[in-house]
Amino acid sequence: RHFTGEPGRLAGKRVLVTAGGTVERLDPVRYLTNDSSGKMGYAIAEEAVRMGAAVTLVSGPSALAVPAGVTLVPVQSALDMREAVLARLTESQIIIKAAAVADYRPAVVAEQKIKKKSDSLTLELIKNPDILQEIGSLKTKNQFVIGFAAETEALDEHAMDKLKRKNCDLIVGNDVSQEGAGFGGDTNVVRFYDQNGLVQALPILSKWDVARKLLELAADRMAAAAG
Ligand code: CTP
Ligand code: CA
Repeated sequence: RHFTGEPGRLAGKRVLVTAGGTVERLDPVRYLTNDSSGKMGYAIAEEAVRMGAAVTLVSGPSALAVPAGVTLVPVQSALDMREAVLARLTESQIIIKAAAVADYRPAVVAEQKIKKKSDSLTLELIKNPDILQEIGSLKTKNQFVIGFAAETEALDEHAMDKLKRKNCDLIVGNDVSQEGAGFGGDTNVVRFYDQNGLVQALPILSKWDVARKLLELAADRMAAAAG
């Protein structure tokens, strides 16, 4: 692959990206997580650096190499991710939440390994805070917030609902049931939405190409808003 974007489009901008899945501890040797590979978020971080931004990547555990020039802040749980993001929020102009944050965490984290006892075990889970929604409610007019919506049905409706509920400037919707989209692979099939609806429906592209198109759209929108 080769870089065709415009270097310097994001010069002087601080970009905060979240990536990967969160890890929610159950006991010292067990946890709940999800299938997120982190690839989409890492690709965004890499392309943002190429476009001249100062990039911080808050990531759940991932096997991926940290792209050159990116500052990595490794986290485990959704609560850790929230703290890491909120601590860096005011200094960031573009915030991109590509992470697959666990919606729930175990209500209790056992200090010792949970022992096998009865024939069934019920886990109590409690809801995690919605980090993107918090960012949306704290956002100032100089900040640009991008969320993701991974859906298996009714993509347009669900993506628009999340965009509005979480007060994002853009949302990237992907139908993860579609071939070449979503978790794990090197490609994605996405649609960009703003407060007025669908902006762009992209064909199957590498995650780097998706990243670049997203960052170029964000740069255009920020330039237009700045007048
Ligand atoms: N998100 C977040 N904090 C959470 C859950 C989600 O910041 N606790 C962010 C994700 O990083 C993503 C966006 O919200 O940018 C949408 O995530 P998604 O899981 O698609 O939406 P939910 O609101 O969790 O709704 P549901 O899982 O029920 O579809
Ligand atoms: Ca969710």
